[in-house]
Amino acid sequence: MEPRRELEQLARELARHDELYYRHAAPEISDSAYDELRERYDRLAAALGLPPWQQRPGDDRTPGFATVRHRIPMLSLEKVADGPDGGAEQQLLAWEERTRRALALPARSALALLVEPKIDGVSVSLIYREGRLRTAATRGDGLEGDDITAQVLASGAVPARVPAQHPFEVRGELYLPEAAFSALRERSADDGRPLANPRNACAGLLKRKDADSLAGLGIAAFLYHLAWAEGTEEPATQSAALAWMRAQGFPVNPHAEVVHGAAAAAARCRAFAERRFQLGYGIDGMVIKVDERRFHAVLGATEHHPRWGIAWKFPPERRATELLDVVAQVGKSGRITPVAVLAPVPLAGTTVSRASLHNYGEVARKGIRIGDQVWVEKAGDIIPQVVGVVAGAAARAGRPIAPPAACPSCGTPPLLDDSGARCPNPACPAQLIERLKHYASRAAMDIAGLGDAVVTQLVDKLGVRSPADLYRLDVEQLASLERLGEKSARNLVAAIAESKQRGLARLLVGLALEHVGEKLAEDLAQRFGSMEALLAVRDLGELTAIEGVGERTAQAIIAQLANPAVRAVIAALAEAGVEMHARRAAVRAVPGIAGKSFVLTGTLATMTREEAARQIVAAGGTVSNSVSRKTDFVVVGRDPGSKLAKARALGIPLLDEEGLRALLAGQ
Ligand code: IVH
Repeated sequence: MEPRRELEQLARELARHDELYYRHAAPEISDSAYDELRERYDRLAAALGLPPWQQRPGDDRTPGFATVRHRIPMLSLEKVADGPDGGAEQQLLAWEERTRRALALPARSALALLVEPKIDGVSVSLIYREGRLRTAATRGDGLEGDDITAQVLASGAVPARVPAQHPFEVRGELYLPEAAFSALRERSADDGRPLANPRNACAGLLKRKDADSLAGLGIAAFLYHLAWAEGTEEPATQSAALAWMRAQGFPVNPHAEVVHGAAAAAARCRAFAERRFQLGYGIDGMVIKVDERRFHAVLGATEHHPRWGIAWKFPPERRATELLDVVAQVGKSGRITPVAVLAPVPLAGTTVSRASLHNYGEVARKGIRIGDQVWVEKAGDIIPQVVGVVAGAAARAGRPIAPPAACPSCGTPPLLDDSGARCPNPACPAQLIERLKHYASRAAMDIAGLGDAVVTQLVDKLGVRSPADLYRLDVEQLASLERLGEKSARNLVAAIAESKQRGLARLLVGLALEHVGEKLAEDLAQRFGSMEALLAVRDLGELTAIEGVGERTAQAIIAQLANPAVRAVIAALAEAGVEMHARRAAVRAVPGIAGKSFVLTGTLATMTREEAARQIVAAGGTVSNSVSRKTDFVVVGRDPGSKLAKARALGIPLLDEEGLRALLAGQ
């Protein structure tokens, strides 16, 4: 494959795995398999003179929220961590050295550094004027976020009024303390879909439309940055800024401390790692900042992170325990995966007795056997996984682990390949249950009340065989199920009916097509507009025109959509009245964009072409694939294609990314 294409394909895969891991806490591959992908990407990128894989800080914007443009972009942080490149100390010392040089400070002089916990929450920007909270916004894509002022006010996490009358912006993290999360999780377990972790739960709450329901849920905040202040002298140091914020009534983390030099900062980080699970709220590392604020301006920022601060990431907590047994579990696509049954062991706040072993191929490569002492970690501090055998543990006489000879659910002999086993029976009950649960999941059709227990009964007792069958269930049938009263049955019927309106993108997620995550589903929906148009695609080029879709992905999508079983499900869903069209983003006509036709070429720095296209359409413009005399503007990114030459030949006005952003902002 052409290297650039391969790189795009790897980028798409990595982005999908980032999304699964960080947004859904449901990784499909092990950390080591992810690292392999990422290394392949980095090698290829280096050969092409491109930067290594950088996880984009996810875009948290949600349709239906007003947009807030950040006066100063909300960036991410560079990271240091123990790993193959050496200890985090060395990396931190190197950062200090670079920083000293940039500030022209004498070598080996100790910088004053503020060290504080890195809160694992949702970043927020708060603007106060005349002593009142006027705007609270999420990070969004870093440049523009969602307006969540009503939600933040209702949550009570930050003061609505402060003594200072001048305009200023503070930034920090909203989070759910562990106790608040447990209480909430108990309540939400009723709908069968327990909340994954405090961070995701908090992000979900802040996007609730009925802001008043956020009162009393225990959402909390720590503010850690004064972004700007008008008409007053700003505090000289980061620590003074924290003191000022505290005096204004903002919650400020009590564990911030100034130390001198990177060695001392590293020692502070190591010492704090021991205490991280006793805090009552989640932290995923520490942040080290140059304390003198006048240095911040000198150091500046890259597109991705400021140079005046750096994150020290904690390793996931790891415990050794005995592997008692391995059971086979069938996933929605029939993949049979090994699940470890462990001697219970406390790990990062919960007791773990089951953990993922990913796939049989990896178990074989790692030489894991039943009876072994194994290391257990929590991926993203959420999902426990077995990462390997404890070296030098007692003599190993354990039983080897092999894929089962028959699917544990339907008994069909599985198909075997390098990575493991797959049940080929599309009517396998276990697969059906997983597919239905996926269809009902939050990222897909979002049907509350379809948890494990209910779905299993739908398949076993009510003969549900495909998502389309959900739409014919009535209250009486559902009320006949165990643990489902008349009221819940009524709610469930209503929730199922309501799900018909989710639109094409969410439906595509719900169909659980391979390679199609939330982002690609959205891109497909926006590009094709309807299921009908998507099903008519025969030409790979129509799919590979989407940024990041390689030939392999395009082929896989076309093959899946041509599969008669998939077509039958889609037809039955259409018959049941499920919406098969893309939801049109609300158009807010922006003069300068509305009614104009755009063509995009090359790679943009802060957004993909699909995101740019979405914003243009949302502002009332149109986006087309080829340049013609009717084109009003061609937006040119890095490494543009032949479209640029054509635009020049036709004398069509060119825009760079900045120009496009200015137009979008109505300037
Ligand atoms: S300083 C340029 N301090 O971590 C951003 N960030 O991985 C300056 N975070 O986007 C951020 N605790 O949302 C800073 N004490 C802390 C933090 C913190 C959590 C988050 C923040 C940032 C992300 C970077």
